[in-house]
Amino acid sequence: MADLSVTFCGVEFRNPLVLASGVLGITASSFHHVIESGAGGVTTKSLWLTEHKGHPNPVMIANEHYMLNAVGVPDAGIEKAKMEMAEYNKRKRAPIIANIIAGRKADYGEIAEEIAKLHPDIIEVNISCPNVEDEFGKPFACSRDDASEVCREVKKRVGRVPVIVKLSPNVTSIVEIAKAVANAGADGFCCINTVGPGLAIDLESREPILANRVGGISGPAIKPLAIRIVHEVSRATKLPIIGTGGVTNGRDALEMMMAGATLVGVGTAVYYRGVEVFGLMTKEMDEWCRVNKVKKMRDLIGSMHS
Ligand SMILES: Cc1cc2nc3c(=O)[nH]c(=O)nc-3n(C[C@H](O)[C@H](O)[C@H](O)COP(=O)(O)O)c2cc1C
Repeated sequence: MADLSVTFCGVEFRNPLVLASGVLGITASSFHHVIESGAGGVTTKSLWLTEHKGHPNPVMIANEHYMLNAVGVPDAGIEKAKMEMAEYNKRKRAPIIANIIAGRKADYGEIAEEIAKLHPDIIEVNISCPNVEDEFGKPFACSRDDASEVCREVKKRVGRVPVIVKLSPNVTSIVEIAKAVANAGADGFCCINTVGPGLAIDLESREPILANRVGGISGPAIKPLAIRIVHEVSRATKLPIIGTGGVTNGRDALEMMMAGATLVGVGTAVYYRGVEVFGLMTKEMDEWCRVNKVKKMRDLIGSMHS
C-alpha cells in the first residue's frame, strides 16, 4: 500500500480524505462512524454561537450531476457543540476540523474563542455560505475587506489553533480575496463552498422545487470549477488547501491533489456512494498509486505540469 498520510497546517492525517462541512458531521457518533468508514478526518457542520433555525422543507434535490441545497445552516448553538466535541475527544482517532459561522463580522471572534476551548485540531471559518444571504446580505467571502477582517478577528482569539478560511467561488477574482485573507494571517484555505445559488423548477406546478426557491450547487457538476480555483489559490498564496467540490471517486481526489490540495473534502459524494465512500476512495487512490509507482501520495500535491 502507498503511504497515504499528509500533514496539513502541522496536523497529521492518515489519508487526505476529510468529511466536508454540513454533511453527516453533526454528532460525535456520526464523526466516529465517518472515521471508521475510512476518512482521514472530519469537519463539523457550521457552528453558531446561539441556536440558528434553517430553512423550511424541501431543502434539497439531487440528480446524477448535482445537488441543490438550501438547508440554511441550522444549528443548536455552542452548548450542543461543547457536548459533541467533548464526546468525540474521549475516543478521538483522527483530527477534527471545527467549522464556525456568524451573521455579523463582530460575532466571529466570540464563536472562535469558544470553539478553540474545545481543542479542535483546526478551525475552518465559513464566510461563504450562499444560503443565508436572505438573512445577512452578501457573504463576507465576496469582499476582500470583510473576508480579511473576519480572519484577523478569529486569529486574535484562538491562540495556536490553525485557522483556515472557506472561500466562495461566487466572486469575480477569488485570488484577490485569497491573497487578502492570507495577508490577514490565515494558515490555509478550504476551496470551495457551494456554487450559485441555483434554481430548479417543477414543471407541473411551475413552482421552484425548494421552499427557499434557490440553493447552493454541489456535486460532480462543480468539480472543474473547484479544481481551477484550488490550482489558482495554491499558486498565488502557497498556503495549504482542502480541495472540496464534486469529488466523487479516487481519481477526482487525485486530480484535486495534483491541482494543489493537501486534503480533499468529500460532501455530496456521501449521498451518491454512502458513508463507505471514504474506504472505497482510499482504495481507488491507492490502486492508482501502485499502478503509477507513486510511493507517497503527498508527492502528488501540486504536481500538475503547467
Ligand atoms: C447538504 C449540505 C450542507 C452543507 N452545509 C455546510 C455547512 O454547514 N458549512 C459549510 O461551510 N459548508 C456546507 N456545505 C458545503 C460543503 O461543505 C462543500 O463545500 C460543498 O458541498 C462542495 O463539496 P461537494 O461537492 O463535495 O459537496 C454543505 C453542503 C451540502 C450539500
